[in-house]
Amino acid sequence: MPGAFTGAVLAATRFPPVRAAFTRTSAGLSLAHRFVAGESLAEGLAAARELNEQGIRASLDHLGEEVGDPAACRGAQRVYLDCIEQIAQQGIDGNISVKLTQLGMGVDDDLASKQLKELAAAAGDAGMTVSVDMEDSRWTEATVRLYAEAQQEAGNLGLAIQSCLHRTAADLAAVAPLGGHIRLCKGAYAEPPEVAMQSKEAVDGNFALLMSRLMAEESCMPAIATHDERLVEIALILAQGRANPFEFQMLYGVRQPLQRRLVEAAQRLRVYVPYGSQWYPYLTRRLAERPANVSFFLRALFGG
Ligand code: FDA
Repeated sequence: MPGAFTGAVLAATRFPPVRAAFTRTSAGLSLAHRFVAGESLAEGLAAARELNEQGIRASLDHLGEEVGDPAACRGAQRVYLDCIEQIAQQGIDGNISVKLTQLGMGVDDDLASKQLKELAAAAGDAGMTVSVDMEDSRWTEATVRLYAEAQQEAGNLGLAIQSCLHRTAADLAAVAPLGGHIRLCKGAYAEPPEVAMQSKEAVDGNFALLMSRLMAEESCMPAIATHDERLVEIALILAQGRANPFEFQMLYGVRQPLQRRLVEAAQRLRVYVPYGSQWYPYLTRRLAERPANVSFFLRALFGG
């Protein structure tokens, strides 16, 4: 979420020596292992099966973003088609989460749109949904547009929205009539004040406000994506007024005791399971969310 700590960590992790410290040391790799299921599809599927055994649904994310080359974007779609096939064949209770810059957005928006619709069709044939992640604010407008087009055509998609952005209330009002599952999260990117709230209080307050609107949308499936216990409690209160289901969503490796508590309380929970070799940008966002993750890494690297 925006803020001085997030901005500083995300800026520092762009320096090549810092990147090397994460990607080439055992301290970095062991931290990555906490948040990422593995590099292969088999490892992602194994993590999803393990979650299913605990009564938790999964959403598989093949890591990758801002892919600059159309051929690589087509390759990313093939990886997702394999993933859909395997989820179906193995009877996993899961779906996929995709980033549109991995499918071609920014390089060729028509290609991204086509690839997203094809993924939605393949997922639909397998009785599955497709979640569209929200990337940083340079991509918000195009992401909402491509999502809306695909959702109108296929009907089995969902979109992530970020409570940190000033525009999100308007985006929610625009996409809610399309149905689908709407994943409300705080936002993981450093953003300037013109586009995003800068204080934790403002972002959390807007999350609560947007959540109350989302929970009132019976045509949508609200997906409350947070590990923040206060917001989880508010969600449970707001959900009492709902006729249709909603779900909580959390990240692989984050706050498992809270995940277990929700499952024990018979709440519907989905865990986002990232896998793949391009894990570094994802890891930097998990570090930027929590100072303790940075100190854990520094202690492991330097001892002490
Ligand atoms: P907050 O950051 O206030 O954390 C609450 C508590 O949770 C912390 O005190 C800590 O205990 C624990 N916690 C949170 N993050 C942790 C971490 N990295 N390591 C260890 N503990 C941690 N963002 C985005 O911009 N686009 C997207 O598409 C998505 N998608 C998405 C899917 C799902 C399923 C989730 C749960 C989250 C996302 N996010 C996201 C990330 C989201 O925007 C946000 O950055 C993180 O969820 C952290 O915010 P919290 O709501 O957990 O609150």
